[in-house]
Amino acid sequence: MEKTTFAFEKITQELLDFLRQSPSVFHAAATMKEMLEAAGYVRLLEGQAWKLEPGRGYYVTRNDSALIAFFIPKKDFAGFQVMASHGDSPVFKVKANAEIEVEQHYVKLNVEKYGGMLCAPWLDRPLSVAGRIVVRTEAGITTRLVWVDRDLLIIPNLAIHMNRNVNDGMAFNAQKDMLPLFCGGGEDAKGSFLKLIAREAGVEAEDILDTDLYLYNRMQGTVLGLNGEFVASPRLDDLQCAFASLKGFLAAEPKDSVAVHCVLDNEEVGSGSKQGAASTFLKDVLRRINDGLGRTEEDYLTAIASSFMVSADNAHGIHPNQPDKGDPTNRPYLNEGIVIKYSANQKYTTDAVSGALFKMLCERAGVPYQTFHNRSDILGGSTLGNISTSQVPLNTVDVGLPQLAMHSCCETAGVKDTAYLAEAARVLFSTSVRGLGDGDYRLE
Ligand code: CO
Repeated sequence: MEKTTFAFEKITQELLDFLRQSPSVFHAAATMKEMLEAAGYVRLLEGQAWKLEPGRGYYVTRNDSALIAFFIPKKDFAGFQVMASHGDSPVFKVKANAEIEVEQHYVKLNVEKYGGMLCAPWLDRPLSVAGRIVVRTEAGITTRLVWVDRDLLIIPNLAIHMNRNVNDGMAFNAQKDMLPLFCGGGEDAKGSFLKLIAREAGVEAEDILDTDLYLYNRMQGTVLGLNGEFVASPRLDDLQCAFASLKGFLAAEPKDSVAVHCVLDNEEVGSGSKQGAASTFLKDVLRRINDGLGRTEEDYLTAIASSFMVSADNAHGIHPNQPDKGDPTNRPYLNEGIVIKYSANQKYTTDAVSGALFKMLCERAGVPYQTFHNRSDILGGSTLGNISTSQVPLNTVDVGLPQLAMHSCCETAGVKDTAYLAEAARVLFSTSVRGLGDGDYRLE
């Protein structure tokens, strides 16, 4: 095995920058666009004809929140090498008509849950708002990203004196307990939320027709532990994988297969949107690549059989205070490598073939891997891999980076694992997994 040296500190700082620049799913897509354009990738629009050339890289977005980038090798390609992750995270979304005045002395914002978050970590910390607004133009509408980059909101806890049993377990009512305080009350306060958003976007409040605005945790990601071995940040699930996938993608040299970096939206709410894994987004892109290069339907199906997809979504590491929540014989720890996830019920797509192929790729990359199963008496979560394969039946493995406190607004992971996944992604994107028979493959 080739000995690989990793720049753990450097990639961790880059990851933290990426996370800071990505306070919402729309900003995560915008941050990736910038990185791709800096590397010479050309933007395509779904609503225009694509003129594709071998030896070049492109990217396309859907809904400004899902992004697929691909690189076409110089010679006719054997298949697609895909890494798919997701850009969304559990969060609170600001509702329409958001202002709620409380006894003429406070204004709070009406919000609702997006996905299944741990509620407690959102309390008693500075928060703000990011997302997109849609404004009227003379001829139609246009979309603007908005990022209020200052401490703006807080969701205050109730004092323990008024809730003596709180430390024995608290049931959070999303409509009652989770609304953030925005400002003091009075006549002047009316309409001030949209006015603030309009000012931040440089538009008139009357021109804002609709919004997709989300709260975000103002705490910035940081490195901690005696030897700086851990990273704590909002949105590690799944931007740590999305970032590692893009790093590997930009460093790869695809020779025989099309490399496809795919970051989908709405994984946290079941992937059922037009920009989620259940949609045709990935399939549409792969078909347009195939057709755009003058290839036939037979060529497409042949390519699908010689393709491999890594569904990369963060995994549960063994918890230091709750080690018995993990499976007795599969014990993933932070900083000990990429986690291959298994589920007999196919909540994860990994089977013996895709697991074995991924282990081969890790060996070629010189990176460690670990395995995850749920305890047999714990239901566990799911991810986008098996949803995506109903649209594009790719040979798929489910993996992730080990982390703690999944779906908290501050999650903890290992500084080494980002580099491991980036390197595995680089090898994945530079390799072809050629189908020889059903279950037999050659890595080229
Ligand atoms: Co996830």
